[in-house]
Amino acid sequence: MMEFFKKCPFFSKYTKESSNLIQNISKCPFASQANFSNQNQIRSMHNECPFIKQIKRNYSTLPEFKGEKEGCPFSNFIRNKIPEVSVQVVAETKNVCPFKHLAVVQGKVEEQLDIPPPTSIPKSSLSNQISSLVETQTPTQKKTPAKETYEIFFSNALDKVRNEGRYRVFRNMTRQCGQYPKTHGETIVWCSNDYLGMGQHPVVLQAIQEAVSQCGAGSGGTRNIAGTNKFHLKLEAELADLHGKESSLLFANCYSANVAAISTIVQLIPGLTLFSDAKNHASLIDGIRTSRANKEVFKHNDLKHLEELLSKYDKKAPKMIIFESVYSMDGTVGPIEGICDLAQKYNALTFIDEVHAVGLYGERGAGIAERDGVMHRLDIISGTLAKAFGVYGGYISSSNNIIDAVRSYAPGFIFTTALPPSVTAGALASVRHLKSSKIERQTHQRKAKELKKLLKENGLPVLDTSTHIVPLMIGDPILCKKMSDRLLEKFNIYVQPINYPTVPVGTERFRLTPSPVHTDEMMRSLVVALCQLWDEFGLPRNRGVAAV
Ligand SMILES: Cc1ncc(COP(=O)(O)O)c(C=O)c1O
Repeated sequence: MMEFFKKCPFFSKYTKESSNLIQNISKCPFASQANFSNQNQIRSMHNECPFIKQIKRNYSTLPEFKGEKEGCPFSNFIRNKIPEVSVQVVAETKNVCPFKHLAVVQGKVEEQLDIPPPTSIPKSSLSNQISSLVETQTPTQKKTPAKETYEIFFSNALDKVRNEGRYRVFRNMTRQCGQYPKTHGETIVWCSNDYLGMGQHPVVLQAIQEAVSQCGAGSGGTRNIAGTNKFHLKLEAELADLHGKESSLLFANCYSANVAAISTIVQLIPGLTLFSDAKNHASLIDGIRTSRANKEVFKHNDLKHLEELLSKYDKKAPKMIIFESVYSMDGTVGPIEGICDLAQKYNALTFIDEVHAVGLYGERGAGIAERDGVMHRLDIISGTLAKAFGVYGGYISSSNNIIDAVRSYAPGFIFTTALPPSVTAGALASVRHLKSSKIERQTHQRKAKELKKLLKENGLPVLDTSTHIVPLMIGDPILCKKMSDRLLEKFNIYVQPINYPTVPVGTERFRLTPSPVHTDEMMRSLVVALCQLWDEFGLPRNRGVAAV
């Protein structure tokens, strides 16, 4: 809370001098005039007062603030932060300036306002706070106020993401089968990972419908206890064949496949050191953390640095290199062959995530490793059935022994319900279709190239990638969100802002995903809309190709 006041240029002058916040509040020319039940007044004043701007940013609901009915947003804030004073404050501050009412509880408020951000709350101070609350309560009050105190952690954490402009708002983008990339009537989706439109492909839909008629809805259990059906077995065989490996293992999704596989491999190889690319996906990092293995992080795609790190270890010491083929936010491609050469030289296993490449690259859609003729050199390949294959699920493909060991030891595989038959049947149809049909892959690549060319020609800051990923750089989380909102409101175009932690702070962006079902006309309209948006927001154009 004190952090909040410190942001006000007026208050920040006083907070150091005096510990009495209430006195300082009454000196503030803004606060002494403000009538918090008058929205119009707040709106006109927030243009001038940096403090009220801050309040408005923190309270996305302020425009809907209904004065008396909902109470003042400030006192609501107090109520969340300091439960035991809320009874006195909130009840009396319905229509009046909450700053005056703080005076009612002078001292007490001052003591507790200075709540540090969630990560730095000293455990002891919090437990004192909680226990003193519990002790001072009558039996009938018990439970609720103490529970509200725990809420502080959550409201602080939420304030933090709101203040940093990266509070995530989920848009309802219900897909309409057969209409993709259109959704919600005329809105065009430009950020879906259904890269090829397989989520509505007739072959996939028919397989799903038949599986539902045949087997019903759920799988009925874990793979070990009544949950395995013929579609699991066929799909695992199909994926092993796709990647030229002996076996495959299905998971609920590739996030859990990565976590379970990495942590289990570490568990089974004593002393294994992991070498991880700096831009690896959260699921790979989670797997590495969960494993608690010794790890080294090499600079993104930097073979020289990787070798430096590998060479620190005894040649005989067990090692595994973990990396991706297509990095989904920047569109870079892992140097697979170079990594395999180093793995051979330093006696390391290789674990590659081909999530953004399966279905999309290679003769039969097995990914970049297939395209580059190096699939046989990789030890473990992970992939998803939810992006280019358009359905759901994740998997790993590898040798019989590795797959069987993960199957036998990974809690994330053993103790969870198997994928439903409809999902596995749909994914099976999709994998089979894309093994033989190349038209989707070819059109996809052509569309991505065309879009990048159009964006460049119009001076929009697109990253020059060699893949289907089209990142359009903005570099500010709040701007990114505002521009995304504007695109939807004005042009009926949906592109979700990509903010930290998905990308580093300062590299916020749109990530455009053209697909074979986006028409040329849609593409032109997108670029026209983006140009207008760039001009409206006063952003420079013609600054050449962007850099991360
Ligand atoms: C590189 C990478 N690996 C793994 C995953 C997780 O895949 P899934 O969506 O199947 O859980 C993602 C998801 O976006 C990803 O980008």
